[in-house]
Amino acid sequence: MSERFYVTTPIYYVNAQPHIGHAYTTIVADVMNRFHKLLGYKTYFLTGTDEHGDKIVQAAQEAAMEPKAYADRISRLFRETWPKLNISNDYFIRTTDAKHVRVVQHILQKVYDAGDIYFSTYKGLYCIGCERFYTERELVDGKCPDHDREPVEREEANYFFRMSKYQDWLIEHIEANPDFIRPERYRNEVLAFLREPLEDLCISRPKERLSWGITLPFDERYVTYVWFDALINYVSAIDYPDGELFAEFWPAAQHTIAKDILKPHGIYWPTMIRSAGFTPYRHLNVHGYWKINEGKMSKSRGTVVAPLDLVPIYGLDAFRYFLLREMVFGLDANFSEDALIQRLNADLANDLGNLFSRTLAMTAKYFDGRIPPFGAEPEAPDRELRDQTRQTIEVYRAEIPRLGFHKALISIWETLNTANKYIDSVAPWTLAKEAGQRPRLQTVMRNLLEVNRTVAVLIAPFMPETAETMLARLSIPKKALDLRLDEDSRWGTLHEGVPVHKGEALFPRVETEKIAQLKQKGMPPKAGAAALKEAGMELISFEEFKKLDLRTGIVKHAEAVPKSRKLLKLIVDIGEERQVVAGIAQTHTAEEVVGKQVIIVANLQPAKLMGIESRGMVLAVSDGDRLSLVTTAEPVSPGLRVS
Ligand code: MSP
Repeated sequence: MSERFYVTTPIYYVNAQPHIGHAYTTIVADVMNRFHKLLGYKTYFLTGTDEHGDKIVQAAQEAAMEPKAYADRISRLFRETWPKLNISNDYFIRTTDAKHVRVVQHILQKVYDAGDIYFSTYKGLYCIGCERFYTERELVDGKCPDHDREPVEREEANYFFRMSKYQDWLIEHIEANPDFIRPERYRNEVLAFLREPLEDLCISRPKERLSWGITLPFDERYVTYVWFDALINYVSAIDYPDGELFAEFWPAAQHTIAKDILKPHGIYWPTMIRSAGFTPYRHLNVHGYWKINEGKMSKSRGTVVAPLDLVPIYGLDAFRYFLLREMVFGLDANFSEDALIQRLNADLANDLGNLFSRTLAMTAKYFDGRIPPFGAEPEAPDRELRDQTRQTIEVYRAEIPRLGFHKALISIWETLNTANKYIDSVAPWTLAKEAGQRPRLQTVMRNLLEVNRTVAVLIAPFMPETAETMLARLSIPKKALDLRLDEDSRWGTLHEGVPVHKGEALFPRVETEKIAQLKQKGMPPKAGAAALKEAGMELISFEEFKKLDLRTGIVKHAEAVPKSRKLLKLIVDIGEERQVVAGIAQTHTAEEVVGKQVIIVANLQPAKLMGIESRGMVLAVSDGDRLSLVTTAEPVSPGLRVS
């Protein structure tokens, strides 16, 4: 029976749109999932959204929406973003799913029945504006930083989880399992925290204060604290307690997170699990933060980087490669487009792209585009190349499970460099000219083809599209997810006589100036914006939509605008007569639009086009060269509001 591997990302709050921080964690989990599949594990990969609590209520209020409708919308953005980044998740969980709610209530009841939840009064400093308690340390000059006013003393009765009871057990567990929390710096951070007495955790919120949450099964007046709800997703998704997936994949779980949420994952979650009576997860993998221009990513400073803005400009695999190559897992890293361009040009266009295209070009030239058999016996440089490749496979197998993604990539690039140098030193073009060197040339080219195939297999978890393209050109029509490291990287197993296809450059070079110019003209960002729109990411509230006054109208009169190829002047009946100038003359004559039923934006600011006043806009869609006027399915009266 094959081994099991279960990887999770945090479930993201639905109060922000996906950015590169979310993308990084999710791509890391994806690489781990794909890597374990490549090794033949049976895997399960979970991501999703965290939808309850104050934060979400606030964000929904700002968007003038009900929390559920708001959560539906942002959750969909996450769900629709991941396939565009080639994320191979098996399931997408939402904390508003009925199945999740059931499991949270089940665990609450279990922990309650075990005597680990008690009711008690809490006295603290409460900000009425924020509707929450503050600790002394969070206050600035004794005031709430958001409302600039002093909080009031308030007493509230709540339920508490007896976390303190599990402190000693947790310390022992972490000490007995050195890689329970990794890398080591985060394990040390948690242990340092556990040196102080652990306080019990307040796990309820009275409904009069917050009703957007999961009701406590033992007291209807309360909902549970959002972290007690959210962490349970990792088991509700796999049908805890009785489901087959739970039996199969728990405790083979690896939670992957950034350092911001170390405490809930390193302390709350294992103690909750212990109280509920099952085995803790296997690893907590904690990474650092992406910074922008050495600073924190911030909405107000406009430094939030959206992955779907970058992918249309640089390509998905270059983006995935950059994130995994640039960040040392566990440490912070800086994101900049310049650094991405440098890596793209040096590592991808030069090292990888050139090796592949040189190899295929020479195969085309010397062997009619067919894979040659091994010819002459291997010589020293051949052995060196093969040893290097073998060593890379070893490093790769060892490093990825211990989160050394950048080290695995560096090692692959050592093989690429060795192969590029091999070409320069054995100079196949010289062998091709020399009589009697054909067998040697066969061996050299075959070695190069084998290396390229191995590299394609090794990069598959990181750059699945590129891997598939490379393999297809070597006449290996396999999907990245169907590859198996042992079989598919075995040296010498390419098929002789099979054709290879040169194709275009894998990674065309990117010129910084060209990108800057295009951006100035608004081109690639437009592509990014278009991608965002496609993902439904440029959202407007219903309030904003309502500001648009769309009306039905009938064209009464039309005439061409002199000296303009595009414009027609129309008089449209929208309950009153409106003069509108429309850019539809290239596809519609004046005669043909008279009598047509149209839709007009009636409250557009008046504008002058070729000196003619236009008070509104006619809606049309362009499909390639064709322009079609928007109308209603049935004839209707003019002047009706479209909503
Ligand atoms: N909803 C909680 C998690 C509950 S898990 C049971 C939450 N959500 S979040 O939307 O704020 O996501 C936090 C996570 O997003 C981080 O742990 C990390 O995975 C990712 N990142 C957010 N910003 C990031 C960076 N600037 N850099 C790297 N990752 C970052 O917390």
